Parts: sequence; C-alpha cells; structure tokens
Amino acid sequence: MPTEPRPPTPPQTPAAPRVLSGIQPTGRFHWGNYFGAIRQYIDLQATGEAYYFIADLHALTTVREPDRLRALVHDAAVDLVALGLDPERATLFVQSDVPEVTELTWLLMTVTPMGLLERCHAYKDKKTRGLPADAGLFTYPVLMSADILAYDATVVPVGEDQVQHIEVCRDLAGTFNHLYGEVFTLPKPRLVEGGGRVPGTDGQKMSKSYDNTLDVFEDPAAQKKKIMRITTDSRPMEEPKNPDDDHLFALYSLMAPEADRLKMADLYRRGGFGYGEVKKALAEAAAQFFAEARARRAALEADPERIEAILATGAERAQAKARAVLDRARRACGLARGQTGKPIVTGKPAGRETRA
Ligand code: TYM
Repeated sequence: MPTEPRPPTPPQTPAAPRVLSGIQPTGRFHWGNYFGAIRQYIDLQATGEAYYFIADLHALTTVREPDRLRALVHDAAVDLVALGLDPERATLFVQSDVPEVTELTWLLMTVTPMGLLERCHAYKDKKTRGLPADAGLFTYPVLMSADILAYDATVVPVGEDQVQHIEVCRDLAGTFNHLYGEVFTLPKPRLVEGGGRVPGTDGQKMSKSYDNTLDVFEDPAAQKKKIMRITTDSRPMEEPKNPDDDHLFALYSLMAPEADRLKMADLYRRGGFGYGEVKKALAEAAAQFFAEARARRAALEADPERIEAILATGAERAQAKARAVLDRARRACGLARGQTGKPIVTGKPAGRETRA
C-alpha cells in the first residue's frame, strides 16, 4: 500500500524574534538606509536569531557592470560591519549565495496575482514615468517575499518604503498556506519611530533616484558642502519657526545628542537665527556621529579576506536554514516524491569562494 504523504511540519514560532532584512548594494549607504534600516539591524542582532543579506539579485535590475556589482557587494559588507553589524551574532551573507531562494521565488510566483504586482510602487513609478520595466522589476516583490519566507523570519526591520512589499509577502504566504497547509511563517515589518522616512537634502524621501542623499561614509568636508546647500524656506531670520515642519531640523535630530536637539528646537521656536548656523551644526554633528565607524571602515578595507570569510560563513549558515524551508515548501505543494522533500538527485550547491 502506498504510504500517505506526510503533512508539512508547521514552522515553529520562535519565542525570540527571528529577524531578517536585506539591503541593495547600489552604492554607498545613505542616512536613510542607516536610520531607517541598518541601525535597527544592529539593535536587533542582540535580541534573537538575525539574518542580514546584501541583495545582489535585486541589484541586477539596475547594475549591469559585473565587476562593479562584485565591488559593490564587497563594499556593502565592509560598510555594514564597520557600522556595527556583528558577524558573530548575526548571519551576514550575499543573497545569490543561497540559490534556494530563487527556487522558492518560482513556487511563490505560481500563487501571485498579476494585479498585486501591478499595484507595487517600484514598477508603477517606472511605468508612470514612461520608462521601460523588465520582468525582474515587475516580479521584484516576489523575490523579496522568498527572501523573507526562506528563513522563517518573524520581524523585518525596514524603512517605510518597503512596507508594501512585506504586505505582498504576507499575502503570498497566506495564499500558499491556504492551499498547501501551514508552510510559511507570516512576518511583520518593523519601523523605527520617526526614522521610517528620512528626508533628503530637498525635503523629499532620501533616495539615490532623487539625487538628494547624504552618505554615511562621505568625506566630512565634501559632505559639509552638500549640507550647506540643503533647501530651506525663505522666511526672515527673526520669524519663529516650527521645528517639526522642517527637514533640516529632522536631519539634525538624527545626528545630535538629545540635549543639543532640544536646544535647537528652542532656537527654532524663538526665531532670530539663520539656517546657516543649523547647517554648520548639522555638518559637525554628522562628522562626529560616524567618526568611529569611519575608522573601523578603514581598517576593514585593508583586510578584504576577512570580509569574504565572513560572507562565506554566513552563506553556509543561511543556506542550511533556507534549504530546510524550501524542502518543506516542495513537499507541501507536491514537488518532492520522497518523504524528505529533497529532490531525488541533488548536486551540492556551490558555496561562496573565499578570495585568496
Ligand atoms: P533598499 O536597498 O532600497 O534600502 C535598504 C533599506 O533602507 C531603507 N531606506 C530608508 N529608510 C528610511 N528613509 C529613507 N529615506 C530610506 N531609504 C531607504 C529601506 O526601507 C530599506 O529597509 N527591496 C529592498 C531590499 C530587500 C529586502 C528583502 C528588504 C530585498 N529583499 C527582504 C527586507 C527583506 C530594498 O531595495 O531596500
């Protein structure tokens, strides 16, 4: 008598959060990346299991030069470690080093309604601007969903602009679970209070696409020049102003110690000060804020093997987790013919090579 297929083993909900997030290696990280996401990665690595990855597969939709992509991935890892991501506590890896995620993307794609993706803002924005979009950009939220579900993540620290994608992920996981049993854990986004949308030098959301960024590891003198050009309104100096409506004050608040922030808020309310003074104070506070990380970065830059070794270890750990989740999903939807859910013939997936 044929044996009944086993029902999928439901994912265990961990008592401690299982944290996961990804970041694209499309250039140097800006303050929006740091205050919206990276700072949360660092805070959360102490609270439970944490997985952080460099999203090179997502970056392929915009970076078309292979050597540049490789360099950007390496630099992103250097930046994250310099900023305090601790590879002993968190698993740091490169997205494409875990090919299980791309197989999981396909499984999810089969339950993804087109309309859901048509409403996603990255694709919609490009379409509205009349720019050509490829299927990679269109299906980007499905890959992102696989990224999250492959690690049974419960908490996803992100900035405001990624919340829609996490809702898509929850939708797809819910549909898959409805069809095939409790396969996936539903994640929740985690936003920082007040830092979910860091403004750029022009007051819009800070983003490379708007050319309004202030970068974490920018040379302080060059950055000061950019800060001095931050747009401000033209109200006279003596007029009292509301600090809460002002993007320059919002940026200063991220950098300055609390006592200085309160003093500055008071200055705004009293009036009689120039925006130039605030900009100078912001430039100084920023140079100070990232000084230690800048020094750590210089040391890490001189030791590329160490970074590659961190990524190799991270890939191994991440892959073991993703393999187990993919096996569970394969078994649930009827792809696996054995009891294990593993493919009948498996090649050993290629690991990350440590550059000599
Ligand atoms: P990415 O690389 O565009 O941005 C990385 C993180 O930075 C946050 N962020 C901001 N936060 C506040 N204010 C801003 N101005 C600002 N700009 C960027 C983003 O919200 C993000 O958290 N699709 C993702 C990468 C990704 C991912 C994932 C994230 C791929 N798979 C799975 C989480 C889980 C992206 O392009 O982020």
